[in-house]
Amino acid sequence: MAITHQHRISSGFGPRSTAEEVVDGIDLTGKTVIVTGGYSGLGKEATVALARAGAHVVVPARRVEMARKALRDTESAEVAELDLADLDSIRTFSERFLDTGLTIDVIIANAGVMAYPRRHVGPGWEAHFAINHLGHFALVNRLRPALAQSGARVVAVASSGHFLSDIRWNDLHFSRDYDIWRAYGQSKTANALFATHLDVIGAVAGVHAYSVHPGSILTPLQRNIPRAEQVAQGWIGSEGSRADGFKTPAQGAATAVWAATAAPLAAFGGAYCQDCDVAELATNDDMLVGGVKPWAVDAVSAARLWTLSSELTGLDSFSG
Ligand SMILES: NC(=O)c1ccc[n+]([C@@H]2O[C@H](COP(=O)([O-])OP(=O)(O)OC[C@H]3O[C@@H](n4cnc5c(N)ncnc54)[C@H](OP(=O)(O)O)[C@@H]3O)[C@@H](O)[C@H]2O)c1
Repeated sequence: MAITHQHRISSGFGPRSTAEEVVDGIDLTGKTVIVTGGYSGLGKEATVALARAGAHVVVPARRVEMARKALRDTESAEVAELDLADLDSIRTFSERFLDTGLTIDVIIANAGVMAYPRRHVGPGWEAHFAINHLGHFALVNRLRPALAQSGARVVAVASSGHFLSDIRWNDLHFSRDYDIWRAYGQSKTANALFATHLDVIGAVAGVHAYSVHPGSILTPLQRNIPRAEQVAQGWIGSEGSRADGFKTPAQGAATAVWAATAAPLAAFGGAYCQDCDVAELATNDDMLVGGVKPWAVDAVSAARLWTLSSELTGLDSFSG
């Protein structure tokens, strides 16, 4: 199948743009945005930039007290409890949100985990796949009634980590051969495919979806990786300094915020983005160069994953 929409559009922004720069001049007053994990790393930067642009930002948090502390200076951000590993928690959060009667203009599905040792949650789901993908799948489907009737956007924060694995259709939950990077990679491919298909079936309701690679950024995401390994990988110097080519958290948040707000992107629904632009198809296996692998934006795989995710979670508010 030909993939035709993965081409740069010369957005005027680039890898060094920050989240605040991409919303400069955009008035989000009266808009409601949900940023999962919006109290740490990239999510916090996105929350602060969107709030400064006038949005009311709802931040679902696994650690509520920590989130309130992190956002104490951001008045228009509101924290509510949510554990993406727990379908009951997702239902409770969503029901409470729907009770407010608020309309959602943007969901940034940002929360994520990386490099977990082998772990299963819920009914035996591999933890990366469950938290990074299925939790967001359930959340967006639960919140479907509140999505703005026209022009709502869902941004899935994926990663060039998707280079590491396509969907393991025959062993999603790693009954064998567990590997932290393949597990993370599968979940990030799932994030991109989620956006690909949501954009197709959300179109009738005016919902657009995108996925993004934020770049490489030192955040608490790397907490499970020993420091010596991070030095060996070249991510940090032995004294803890950031490697060349790494972004600051404010730069790392920019592509998600851009995908959530940039007007020209409306014509590129489903696109995988990086460096505040639509990404090209990857031409090699260098994750630092990036681009998107065909398997992460394949329409047939995306529909198949949607069906599978719906069967696993018992949810599908968009199809037919
Ligand atoms: N940093 C990078 O270089 C990089 C590169 C590519 C992609 N990404 C993606 O960017 C996103 C944000 O990562 P980050 O670097 O900002 O990491 P981070 O600082 O660790 O933030 C991740 C957030 O997700 C939350 N979270 C984790 N498990 C959760 C759960 N079960 N329920 C609810 N929230 C949960 C975390 O909450 P707790 O703090 O309570 O655990 C935290 O707020 C992730 O999806 C990641 O895969 C990051």
